[in-house]
Amino acid sequence: MPIEKAQAVESTRLAELQTQLKAVVHTWPQDITLEIGCGHGHFLAAYAAAHPNEYCVGIDIIRDRLERAARKTTRANLTNVSFLLSDARMMVEHLPANMRLNRIFVLFPDPWPKRRHHKNRLIKPDFLDILAKRATPDATLYFRTDHEHYFEEAYSTLHNHPCWNINEREWPFEYETVFQSRAPAHQSFIAKVHKLA
Ligand SMILES: C[S@@+](CC[C@H](N)C(=O)[O-])C[C@H]1O[C@@H](n2cnc3c(N)ncnc32)[C@H](O)[C@@H]1O
Repeated sequence: MPIEKAQAVESTRLAELQTQLKAVVHTWPQDITLEIGCGHGHFLAAYAAAHPNEYCVGIDIIRDRLERAARKTTRANLTNVSFLLSDARMMVEHLPANMRLNRIFVLFPDPWPKRRHHKNRLIKPDFLDILAKRATPDATLYFRTDHEHYFEEAYSTLHNHPCWNINEREWPFEYETVFQSRAPAHQSFIAKVHKLA
Protein backbone atom coordinates (compact mmCIF):
# COMPACT_ATOMS: atom_id res chain seq x y z
CA MET A 1 0.00 0.00 0.00
CA PRO A 2 1.40 3.48 -0.84
CA ILE A 3 2.55 5.44 2.24
CA GLU A 4 -0.10 8.20 1.91
CA LYS A 5 -2.89 5.63 1.69
CA ALA A 6 -1.52 3.71 4.71
CA GLN A 7 -1.37 6.97 6.71
CA ALA A 8 -4.95 7.82 5.76
CA VAL A 9 -6.16 4.35 6.84
CA GLU A 10 -4.24 4.69 10.12
CA SER A 11 -5.74 8.08 10.91
CA THR A 12 -9.27 6.86 10.10
CA ARG A 13 -8.73 3.91 12.45
CA LEU A 14 -7.38 6.17 15.17
CA ALA A 15 -10.32 8.56 14.85
CA GLU A 16 -12.68 5.59 15.11
CA LEU A 17 -10.89 4.30 18.21
CA GLN A 18 -10.99 7.74 19.84
CA THR A 19 -14.73 8.01 19.19
CA GLN A 20 -15.29 4.59 20.76
CA LEU A 21 -13.09 5.43 23.76
CA LYS A 22 -14.83 8.75 24.31
CA ALA A 23 -18.19 6.99 24.50
CA VAL A 24 -17.20 4.44 27.12
CA VAL A 25 -14.01 5.29 28.92
CA HIS A 26 -15.68 7.44 31.59
CA THR A 27 -17.47 4.27 32.79
CA TRP A 28 -14.23 2.32 33.24
CA PRO A 29 -12.20 2.05 36.44
CA GLN A 30 -8.53 2.98 36.33
CA ASP A 31 -7.30 -0.64 36.11
CA ILE A 32 -8.69 -2.90 33.43
CA THR A 33 -8.43 -6.47 32.18
CA LEU A 34 -7.66 -6.50 28.45
CA GLU A 35 -8.12 -9.32 25.96
CA ILE A 36 -6.21 -8.71 22.73
CA GLY A 37 -7.72 -10.43 19.68
CA CYS A 38 -10.91 -11.39 21.52
CA GLY A 39 -12.65 -12.65 18.36
CA HIS A 40 -16.31 -13.40 19.12
CA GLY A 41 -15.80 -12.65 22.80
CA HIS A 42 -16.65 -16.10 24.20
CA PHE A 43 -13.82 -16.11 26.68
CA LEU A 44 -14.11 -12.50 27.83
CA ALA A 45 -17.89 -12.56 28.27
CA ALA A 46 -17.58 -15.67 30.47
CA TYR A 47 -14.58 -14.21 32.31
CA ALA A 48 -16.41 -10.93 32.98
CA ALA A 49 -19.45 -12.80 34.31
CA ALA A 50 -17.20 -14.75 36.68
CA HIS A 51 -15.19 -11.66 37.75
CA PRO A 52 -17.73 -8.92 38.48
CA ASN A 53 -15.08 -6.85 40.28
CA GLU A 54 -12.91 -6.53 37.18
CA TYR A 55 -13.65 -4.30 34.21
CA CYS A 56 -12.90 -6.20 31.00
CA VAL A 57 -12.11 -4.75 27.58
CA GLY A 58 -11.87 -6.91 24.47
CA ILE A 59 -10.31 -5.62 21.29
CA ASP A 60 -10.15 -7.04 17.81
CA ILE A 61 -9.61 -5.76 14.29
CA ILE A 62 -12.58 -7.62 12.78
CA ARG A 63 -15.81 -5.69 13.14
CA ASP A 64 -18.40 -8.45 12.78
CA ARG A 65 -16.70 -10.60 15.43
CA LEU A 66 -17.03 -7.69 17.86
CA GLU A 67 -20.68 -7.16 16.98
CA ARG A 68 -21.34 -10.76 17.97
CA ALA A 69 -19.31 -10.28 21.14
CA ALA A 70 -21.33 -7.18 22.07
CA ARG A 71 -24.61 -9.07 21.51
CA LYS A 72 -23.42 -11.73 23.98
CA THR A 73 -22.80 -9.16 26.70
CA THR A 74 -26.18 -7.52 26.14
CA ARG A 75 -27.96 -10.88 26.33
CA ALA A 76 -26.10 -11.71 29.53
CA ASN A 77 -26.73 -8.22 31.02
CA LEU A 78 -23.03 -7.75 31.67
CA THR A 79 -22.05 -4.23 32.70
CA ASN A 80 -18.34 -4.85 33.28
CA VAL A 81 -17.23 -5.53 29.72
CA SER A 82 -16.73 -3.48 26.54
CA PHE A 83 -15.59 -4.56 23.09
CA LEU A 84 -13.72 -2.13 20.86
CA LEU A 85 -12.60 -2.25 17.26
CA SER A 86 -8.89 -1.55 17.39
CA ASP A 87 -5.44 -2.74 16.65
CA ALA A 88 -3.72 -3.78 19.89
CA ARG A 89 -0.81 -1.39 19.68
CA MET A 90 -3.04 1.57 18.80
CA MET A 91 -5.39 0.83 21.69
CA VAL A 92 -2.67 0.51 24.32
CA GLU A 93 -0.86 3.61 23.08
CA HIS A 94 -4.06 5.70 23.14
CA LEU A 95 -5.53 4.61 26.45
CA PRO A 96 -6.17 7.65 28.65
CA ALA A 97 -2.99 8.48 30.59
CA ASN A 98 -4.33 7.42 34.00
CA MET A 99 -5.51 3.98 32.90
CA ARG A 100 -3.52 0.82 33.56
CA LEU A 101 -3.63 -2.78 32.37
CA ASN A 102 -3.83 -5.26 35.23
CA ARG A 103 -4.51 -8.51 33.39
CA ILE A 104 -3.77 -9.03 29.71
CA PHE A 105 -4.99 -12.11 27.82
CA VAL A 106 -3.59 -13.09 24.43
CA LEU A 107 -5.40 -16.28 23.43
CA PHE A 108 -4.63 -18.03 20.15
CA PRO A 109 -3.17 -14.96 18.44
CA ASP A 110 -2.62 -15.20 14.69
CA PRO A 111 0.51 -17.38 14.39
CA TRP A 112 1.70 -16.07 11.02
CA PRO A 113 3.16 -19.51 10.25
CA LYS A 114 5.31 -18.57 7.24
CA ARG A 115 8.83 -17.54 8.21
CA ARG A 116 8.68 -14.32 6.19
CA HIS A 117 5.54 -13.32 8.15
CA HIS A 118 6.90 -14.01 11.65
CA LYS A 119 7.64 -10.29 11.94
CA ASN A 120 3.86 -9.70 12.07
CA ARG A 121 3.41 -11.67 15.29
CA LEU A 122 2.06 -9.67 18.19
CA ILE A 123 4.50 -10.75 20.87
CA LYS A 124 7.64 -8.77 20.05
CA PRO A 125 9.97 -6.88 22.43
CA ASP A 126 8.75 -3.43 21.40
CA PHE A 127 5.11 -4.37 21.99
CA LEU A 128 6.04 -5.80 25.40
CA ASP A 129 7.69 -2.43 26.19
CA ILE A 130 4.43 -0.66 25.35
CA LEU A 131 2.41 -3.08 27.50
CA ALA A 132 4.84 -2.71 30.41
CA LYS A 133 4.56 1.09 30.27
CA ARG A 134 0.80 0.86 30.69
CA ALA A 135 0.81 -2.03 33.18
CA THR A 136 -0.06 -1.90 36.89
CA PRO A 137 2.87 -2.84 39.17
CA ASP A 138 1.25 -6.27 39.60
CA ALA A 139 0.19 -6.86 35.99
CA THR A 140 -0.01 -10.35 34.54
CA LEU A 141 0.09 -11.46 30.92
CA TYR A 142 -1.60 -14.74 29.93
CA PHE A 143 -0.59 -16.27 26.60
CA ARG A 144 -2.03 -19.38 24.96
CA THR A 145 -1.52 -20.85 21.49
CA ASP A 146 -1.76 -24.10 19.57
CA HIS A 147 1.22 -23.14 17.41
CA GLU A 148 4.40 -24.75 18.74
CA HIS A 149 6.88 -22.40 17.11
CA TYR A 150 4.99 -19.28 18.16
CA PHE A 151 4.79 -20.66 21.71
CA GLU A 152 8.56 -21.13 21.84
CA GLU A 153 9.26 -17.75 20.29
CA ALA A 154 6.83 -15.89 22.58
CA TYR A 155 8.09 -17.72 25.69
CA SER A 156 11.66 -16.83 24.89
CA THR A 157 10.76 -13.20 24.05
CA LEU A 158 9.06 -12.81 27.45
CA HIS A 159 11.84 -14.69 29.23
CA ASN A 160 14.50 -12.38 27.77
CA HIS A 161 12.56 -9.15 28.15
CA PRO A 162 13.77 -6.84 30.95
CA CYS A 163 10.24 -5.89 32.01
CA TRP A 164 8.60 -9.31 32.20
CA ASN A 165 9.24 -12.57 34.11
CA ILE A 166 7.77 -15.93 33.25
CA ASN A 167 5.76 -16.96 36.28
CA GLU A 168 4.71 -20.54 36.99
CA ARG A 169 1.14 -19.99 38.06
CA GLU A 170 -2.11 -21.73 37.48
CA TRP A 171 -4.24 -20.58 34.56
CA PRO A 172 -6.81 -18.36 36.27
CA PHE A 173 -9.97 -19.20 34.36
CA GLU A 174 -10.74 -21.95 31.87
CA TYR A 175 -13.28 -21.23 29.17
CA GLU A 176 -12.81 -22.58 25.67
CA THR A 177 -12.31 -20.00 22.92
CA VAL A 178 -13.44 -20.66 19.33
CA PHE A 179 -9.89 -21.37 18.19
CA GLN A 180 -9.20 -23.49 21.26
CA SER A 181 -12.19 -25.69 20.39
CA ARG A 182 -10.64 -26.35 16.96
CA ALA A 183 -7.11 -27.05 18.19
CA PRO A 184 -5.98 -30.58 18.99
CA ALA A 185 -3.66 -29.24 21.72
CA HIS A 186 -2.36 -25.97 23.09
CA GLN A 187 0.31 -24.54 25.38
CA SER A 188 0.13 -21.62 27.78
CA PHE A 189 2.42 -19.45 29.87
CA ILE A 190 1.94 -16.64 32.35
CA ALA A 191 4.27 -13.67 32.82
CA LYS A 192 4.37 -10.95 35.48
CA VAL A 193 5.57 -7.45 34.87
CA HIS A 194 8.93 -7.01 36.51
CA LYS A 195 10.01 -3.46 35.93
CA LEU A 196 7.90 -0.66 34.55
CA ALA A 197 9.58 0.54 31.33
C1 LIG B 1 -6.75 -16.75 15.65
S1 LIG B 1 -7.93 -15.56 16.14
C2 LIG B 1 -8.27 -16.02 17.83
C3 LIG B 1 -9.54 -15.43 18.35
C4 LIG B 1 -9.88 -15.82 19.80
N1 LIG B 1 -8.89 -15.30 20.73
C5 LIG B 1 -10.01 -17.31 19.93
O1 LIG B 1 -9.12 -17.91 20.59
O2 LIG B 1 -10.98 -17.86 19.42
C6 LIG B 1 -6.93 -14.12 16.34
C7 LIG B 1 -7.75 -12.87 16.53
O3 LIG B 1 -6.87 -11.78 16.73
C8 LIG B 1 -7.34 -10.67 15.99
N2 LIG B 1 -6.19 -9.79 15.74
C9 LIG B 1 -5.18 -10.01 14.88
N3 LIG B 1 -4.28 -9.01 14.93
C10 LIG B 1 -4.76 -8.12 15.86
C11 LIG B 1 -4.28 -6.87 16.35
N4 LIG B 1 -3.16 -6.33 15.88
N5 LIG B 1 -5.00 -6.23 17.28
C12 LIG B 1 -6.17 -6.77 17.75
N6 LIG B 1 -6.66 -7.96 17.32
C13 LIG B 1 -5.98 -8.62 16.39
C14 LIG B 1 -7.94 -11.29 14.74
O4 LIG B 1 -8.84 -10.45 14.10
C15 LIG B 1 -8.59 -12.54 15.31
O5 LIG B 1 -9.94 -12.33 15.70
